Amino acid sequence: TVWQQAFPDGKSPQRVLVPPSPSAIFLVLTVRPGFESRAKDFLSEIAGLTRTVGFRSREADLSCVTGIGADLWDRMFTAPRPRGLHPFIEQRGDVHTAPSTPGDLLFHIRARRIDMCFELARLIGDALQGAVDVADEVHGFRYFDERDILGFVDGTENPEDQGAVDAVLRHPDDVAEDSVLDSGPGSVLDSAEAGPDVAAAVAGDSGPGSVPGDGSPGYPGSTFVIVQKYTHDMSAWDALSVEEQEAAFGRHKLSDVEFAEEDKAPNSHLVLNSIEHEDGNDREIVRDNMVFGSVGSGEYGTYFIAYAADVTTTEQMLENMFIGDPVGTYDRILDFSTALTGGLFFVPSQDFLDDPDGELAEAGLGIGGAASAKVDGSDSDGESDDDSFADVP
Ligand code: HEM
Repeated sequence: TVWQQAFPDGKSPQRVLVPPSPSAIFLVLTVRPGFESRAKDFLSEIAGLTRTVGFRSREADLSCVTGIGADLWDRMFTAPRPRGLHPFIEQRGDVHTAPSTPGDLLFHIRARRIDMCFELARLIGDALQGAVDVADEVHGFRYFDERDILGFVDGTENPEDQGAVDAVLRHPDDVAEDSVLDSGPGSVLDSAEAGPDVAAAVAGDSGPGSVPGDGSPGYPGSTFVIVQKYTHDMSAWDALSVEEQEAAFGRHKLSDVEFAEEDKAPNSHLVLNSIEHEDGNDREIVRDNMVFGSVGSGEYGTYFIAYAADVTTTEQMLENMFIGDPVGTYDRILDFSTALTGGLFFVPSQDFLDDPDGELAEAGLGIGGAASAKVDGSDSDGESDDDSFADVP
C-alpha cells in the first residue's frame, strides 16, 4: 500500500489507515501510580495479542492502534515528549465546552466483527488487571449508509490514498516544521494569543530542557489521535426540519451532496472545519467516527476520532467549532451534541511500540525506562514487575 511504501527510514506505522470497519471498540485506560513499567512492558505485547485474536478469523481484519497520553509518557520515559504531545486542550466557548478528561492509554480496536474487537479488549483488560482503570469504553458500530446517528453520511471528505498518508504520517522533515508550527503566527498553539490555559498545556510539550528546533526526533512513522465522546439530544434534533438539519452540516441529507459555497451557513459544520494552510492547501485529518447507543438509557452518540500528523490541525478545528470563527460563531451541531470526554494521544510507530527503549536509544535519547524505575522504585533489580497483579481488587 501507499502507506507502507512511505517509510524511507524503515519505521512502520501502526495500522492507522484501514478500510472502514463495521465494528470498533474505543478503550481508554488510566495507569495506576507505580505500574508505569508494567504499562511500558505491555506496549510490546499488544502486537502479539492482536495476532492471537486476529489469526482466528483473518477475514475479520482485526486491528489495534495504541495511543499514549502526555502524562503517561512523562511517567514512563525520561526522553522528551514528542512535540505536539500534551494533554487535550479544553475548549470553553460561550455556549459549549469540549472538556479534557483523563486517559493514559487509548486502544482503537477495529474489525469486521464485534466479537473480534471484544476478545482483544478483554485480553488487554486481563493482561493489565490491577495496573489500570478503565476511564471510558465505547462499543461502536457502523450505521446505515455510513451515516452518523443524526442521519448524515459521515466520513465523505476524508483524504484518501497518498492524501491520507500525508495527513496522518509524521515524516522526518516534520521535526524542522514542528519548531515553526509551535510558534508560528495563527497557530492554535501560539501561547501569546491562546491564553494561559493553552500555554500551560503545551509548555511541557517537548519535555524538560527541550526547546524548539533542538533536534529532538520527529518520531517518523508516528501520528497523533484526538478522541471525544459525544451524545446527542435526538428529540431536539428530530424536531428540526430536514432543511434546518442540512443547514447545520452544509450537506444534503439524503444524497450527501455538499451545498454550493454561497449556500453554506457560517456556523455550519463544514465551514468551520474546512481550514487551509497559508499557501491555500487544505489542512486535513483522517476521521473514523462510530455510532454508539443504548435504548434503555436513551443515550445516542458519536465517538469522534481523528488522526493527524500535525495535531494542531484537529485542535484548530475544535477551536473553530467550540469558540467559533469568528468568536461566537460556533458549530450549529453542538446545539444538539454534548462532548463528554476529550483526549489527545501520541501514536508511535509499530517499531517504537515493539521496543520503546531500543528506539529511544537509537534516537540518542538514552534508555527510556529511567523515569519508570524512578517512579516504581520496584525495578532496581531489572526484573519485571511481577507483583503488578497482587492488588487486583
Ligand atoms: C465533516 C459529522 C465532529 C471535523 C463531517 C460530516 C459529517 C460530520 C456528517 C460531513 C461528511 C464528511 O465529510 O464526513 C460529525 C459529527 C460529529 C463531528 C456527528 C460529532 C458530534 C467533528 C469534530 C471535528 C470534525 C470534533 C474536528 C475536530 C470534520 C471535518 C469534516 C467533517 C474536517 C470535513 C469537512 C470538509 O472538508 O468538508 N462531520 N462530525 N467533526 N467533520 Fe465532523
